[in-house]
Amino acid sequence: MHPSHARYPPPSGRGTSHAGPDWRDASGGERRPWFRAPATTLCVLAAGCAGPQSTLSPAGRGAEIVAELTWWMAAGALGIWLAVVALAWYVIRVRPEEYDERAARRLIIWGGAIVPSVVLLLLLAYGLHRMPELLAPPGDDALTVAVSGEEWWWRIRYEPPDGEPVDSANELRLPLGRAVRFRVTSPDVIHSFWIPSLGGKVDMIPGRTNELTLEATRTGTFRGVCAEFCGHGHALMAFRVVVMEPAEFEAWLDDERGPATAPSDSIETRGAEVFQSTGCGACHGVRGTEAIGRVGPDLTHLASRATLAAGTLENTPQAMRRWLAEPAAIKPGVHMPPFGELPEADFDALVAYLGSLQ
Ligand code: CUA
Repeated sequence: MHPSHARYPPPSGRGTSHAGPDWRDASGGERRPWFRAPATTLCVLAAGCAGPQSTLSPAGRGAEIVAELTWWMAAGALGIWLAVVALAWYVIRVRPEEYDERAARRLIIWGGAIVPSVVLLLLLAYGLHRMPELLAPPGDDALTVAVSGEEWWWRIRYEPPDGEPVDSANELRLPLGRAVRFRVTSPDVIHSFWIPSLGGKVDMIPGRTNELTLEATRTGTFRGVCAEFCGHGHALMAFRVVVMEPAEFEAWLDDERGPATAPSDSIETRGAEVFQSTGCGACHGVRGTEAIGRVGPDLTHLASRATLAAGTLENTPQAMRRWLAEPAAIKPGVHMPPFGELPEADFDALVAYLGSLQ
């Protein structure tokens, strides 16, 4: 056995067959380049800067300001950190007898108090200067969207300045380049409404309506989340945000306002009957039918949404079966009862009916 192996035995059986040159060997063996670890770390960190839920990849006016502030704050922090590290490095190397007391005190006052204070003050002034833009309310003709944080899903109501309001849930669609006023609240516990790609977040507080203005600056699909711990389902209440061209959005909103598609075959018709007789309609609304429940999410156009259970499952027949059979297995603490005990034919019909609600 090689002597270096004897000195550094591998912790487990893995690696005992290591036959290549030993990187720990200082006498000319292969070495890992020094930059490999920092480069890997940077790549991993940078990978988190993009994606549908990133503050650093802004797609909205508010998010652009937040991202700018973030970079300036990071630059300020880096500046202070570099100054402190340089000072520490200098202090380690300097010989005490080379320094008199007054010079040492000056160094501490300038490097330790004045420079950081000036940098922090500049950053504070810059932050305060950008803040009014973040909070500016839109005009009276703006589209308003009322969002309520429920346990654990999102009740959404579009209130266009011209036209009837439209009830929906768990998926948000927004027009490009138009300021949208969000009025957010909650009936019971505190949630926080946050679409990182579009702007800042705002708390949803029972008994209070908070406002937030968001304006999307590019089309695409983004992800919104609850940013305040609200109970069992906190991590399982997300929503998809689709930013569309304005004309496309208007067409979609008109469509969304309309009633649900009528069942097109005998199985879907049976499913609609099961939906009513089992009591689904007492909690859920389906426009154009007898189902007018308001406790749970509106299901009028459920099949046109990409996810089920507030961003938790892809909207597929298989996922729908799992969700209906045992909702609590997917979202602990959910208020919807399980329907796995329904006769198989009824269960299949119910899944077919829900899948038809385009
Ligand atoms: Cu809702 Cu956390």
